[in-house]
Amino acid sequence: MSQTDPNQISLKISLLITVFFSALFSLLMEIFFEFKLLPLLITALLLFIFVYLIFRYTLERFIYQKIRLIYKTIYNLKRPKGTKTEKRDYEVNSIENVNREVSEWAEKKKTEIEKLKTIEVYRREFLGNIYHELKNPIFNIQGYVLTLLDGGLEDPSINREYLLRTEKSINRMISIVDDLETISNLEISQIQMKMLRFDIVELTREILDFLELKAKKRKTELTLADKEEKPVFVLADKKWIRQVLVNLVDNSIKYGRNKDGKTKVSFFDMDENILIEVTDNGPGVAPDEIPRVFERFYRTHDARSREKSGSGLGLSIVKHIIEAHDQTINVRSSLGVGTTFAFTLKKA
Ligand SMILES: Nc1ncnc2c1ncn2[C@@H]1O[C@H](COP(=O)(O)OP(=O)(O)OP(=O)(O)O)[C@@H](O)[C@H]1O
Ligand SMILES: [Mg+2]
Repeated sequence: MSQTDPNQISLKISLLITVFFSALFSLLMEIFFEFKLLPLLITALLLFIFVYLIFRYTLERFIYQKIRLIYKTIYNLKRPKGTKTEKRDYEVNSIENVNREVSEWAEKKKTEIEKLKTIEVYRREFLGNIYHELKNPIFNIQGYVLTLLDGGLEDPSINREYLLRTEKSINRMISIVDDLETISNLEISQIQMKMLRFDIVELTREILDFLELKAKKRKTELTLADKEEKPVFVLADKKWIRQVLVNLVDNSIKYGRNKDGKTKVSFFDMDENILIEVTDNGPGVAPDEIPRVFERFYRTHDARSREKSGSGLGLSIVKHIIEAHDQTINVRSSLGVGTTFAFTLKKA
């Protein structure tokens, strides 16, 4: 805007001063000498240029210094000594730009602070969750060992049983620690996906066979939506995709119906990608809990109240694996109808 443009300010001020002094000069000429236009014009022009240059230089220096200070603060500008500062950065006629950039900077800082606050809450929750998950097996182990030391070791009716329970608690702790290690390695991208071509339909069949026994125990049927499904080749890390499918199908058995449970795996062609869906006819997830199921340690109210074993890390691992493949995963669920987890993989 014109009023903040140092060039225009200098022009206006020099014009004012020139007019004023020219008037005064002509008056004095009129009184003491004889009025002559040419010397008046030359003097006025020189005066105008002189005043303009002085004003412009002073204004620019002043504004430039102020703007430089602002930029220094918001961008943490530190230049090695001796390097010439780029004047373009602090264009003196761009106070509006500075204003805009400072507002943007403030907005960015605000978002950063909010993000840090969320991370802090998340970190606190995370520590609380680890403590909570590990506390139970540790206290159980302590209880069994103390009982065994207090004479239980000599009691054949409990000694073996208590040792077996101790082992179970230790295995639980190992599984939590292993899952946490996997998540942490996936998060810091230490695990490189080994992208190879394989048949995802064949892998799915393998996994359904592997989990068949577990499903039978809960009277759940595991099937491919299309039993005649033709091979579909994908480019992915087979070992990790196996883990994804195991976690999803395992969840569908664990959180599905106790009887007449049905888990179906379907494949949908999407040009470059293939969409793989794991659908169950279980009780589903409440809408307000759906966005949270991929969070570390998150377990739905229903899962917690039904005392299902699990620490809520499985889906978090699944999401990390799919994201490490640059693919996406999402979930749809209706209470009383069922849940579908759908993820994509690149076709090969
Ligand atoms: N198919 C499903 N139907 C209903 N709820 C589900 C289903 N899959 C997952 N959930 C809910 O999402 C939560 C998180 O699942 P996740 O696999 O991460 O943990 P988990 O199975 O409880 O424990 P873990 O997999 O670590 O042994 C579960 O506790 C459950 O509440
Ligand atoms: Mg799980």
